Amino acid sequence: MQSLTVTIIGSGYVGLTTGVCLAELGHTVICSDNDESKVRLLASGGCPIYEPGLPELMRKNAQRLSYTADIADAVRRADIIFVAVGTPSTPSGAPDMSYVERVARTIALAMNSYKLVVEKSTVPVQTAEWMKRTIARYDKAGTPFDVASNPEFLREGTAVQDFLKPDRIVLGVESDRARDLLLRLYAPIDAPKVVVDIKSAELIKHASNSFLAMKISFINAVATICELTGADIDEVVQGMGYDRRIGKDFLRAGVGYGGSCFPKDVDAFIWLAGTLNYDFALLKSVRDINREQRDRFFKKIEDALWVLKGKTVAVLGIAFKANTDDIREAPALDIMRRLLDAGACVRAYDPQAMDHARAQIPQAEYCASPYEAMQGADCAVIMTEWEEIRSLDLDRAVRALAHPIVVDGRNLFDPAEMKRRGFDYRSIGRGHAR
Ligand code: UGA
Repeated sequence: MQSLTVTIIGSGYVGLTTGVCLAELGHTVICSDNDESKVRLLASGGCPIYEPGLPELMRKNAQRLSYTADIADAVRRADIIFVAVGTPSTPSGAPDMSYVERVARTIALAMNSYKLVVEKSTVPVQTAEWMKRTIARYDKAGTPFDVASNPEFLREGTAVQDFLKPDRIVLGVESDRARDLLLRLYAPIDAPKVVVDIKSAELIKHASNSFLAMKISFINAVATICELTGADIDEVVQGMGYDRRIGKDFLRAGVGYGGSCFPKDVDAFIWLAGTLNYDFALLKSVRDINREQRDRFFKKIEDALWVLKGKTVAVLGIAFKANTDDIREAPALDIMRRLLDAGACVRAYDPQAMDHARAQIPQAEYCASPYEAMQGADCAVIMTEWEEIRSLDLDRAVRALAHPIVVDGRNLFDPAEMKRRGFDYRSIGRGHAR
């Protein structure tokens, strides 16, 4: 394979993972970011995010990786430039595209030879078109370039694996030169390469994330029906999942989806459809069900404790899912705030996310272990499916709690087994158990 020089603009979670994994494929990668302290940390061998396997790959490929805050210089040295800057939501649901626009201008002013500019950020359809126009407008020297879209499907916690062994690679291109460069870049990865036009590539990302969010809200709605009828969501999912047209994945009922992607991307797709005069009512329901799921979960805690004021609640897990320290849109934050507002005392534990949580909710008490959090508490609430919580020593937990009440937002335990051990155990969608 002929290696390429790749510059990544925006060394956040997506950019950094992409850069490090491209270095693992044998390419020379320059990770750039305008946050100088982050660049210094990276250059000194540190990793600013918790992502299993990433620090090891950074060390292994150190020869092929460099880090800089000089974005213009990084642009000049690259064959391919990935744009992986943030597109945060604005109150209307529209993504804030100002970072992407600024990067397009920077690229245009710095380019000195043909560049392939690839959008990696989750962006509304037609962003590539806008990037192309912006670069052309500021590219006074008329340097040739192409724009392409290469959406990412990485999940936090398994991002390295997802990158190196993906289900598919989507390449949205409008020239043979761009297609050939991207096929060369990804040649070492054995996965279907879906080569499509740029707008379709952008839509694939919107549609994929929204579809997965829809699966979660769908199964959470079915879980509610299970509670109302006395059926069991695990059994329902088992029976549905064998149908290959449905599949087993993303049908885990729980406290609802969180994270930096699904909530923002569902909002953005609803907004985008609205701008095209299409009312995406289905997706609005997906969002509503997700909100209600948190309300319903909070109600379960209230039902278990009756009065919350003066009660102590152990919150086990804060991250929006396991194997990450990310707490963006984490259901746990919402539940912790509601508990505190109701006058309860919150004692929280998470293996990775406590520093971030402490900065946002300083009123909670943060504990060194799940057992410390449960010591003398009136109830334990499970918010994240960490292995450490799944494998709790239940005898120790029952002794630590003042009242052995567990409200489980992730269905980690078998209701019958919990009952046998003396717990008042409440979970999601297991109607016959409660
Ligand atoms: C998601 C997508 O899965 C990735 O393909 C995509 O690349 C990424 O967004 C992105 O756009 O950057 P991520 O947010 O890291 O990845 O995490 P997921 O594993 O998808 O979980 C999202 C949320 O759904 C979590 O809160 C999780 O607990 C919840 N979830 C997931 C469920 O409640 N039930 C499930 O069955 C699966």
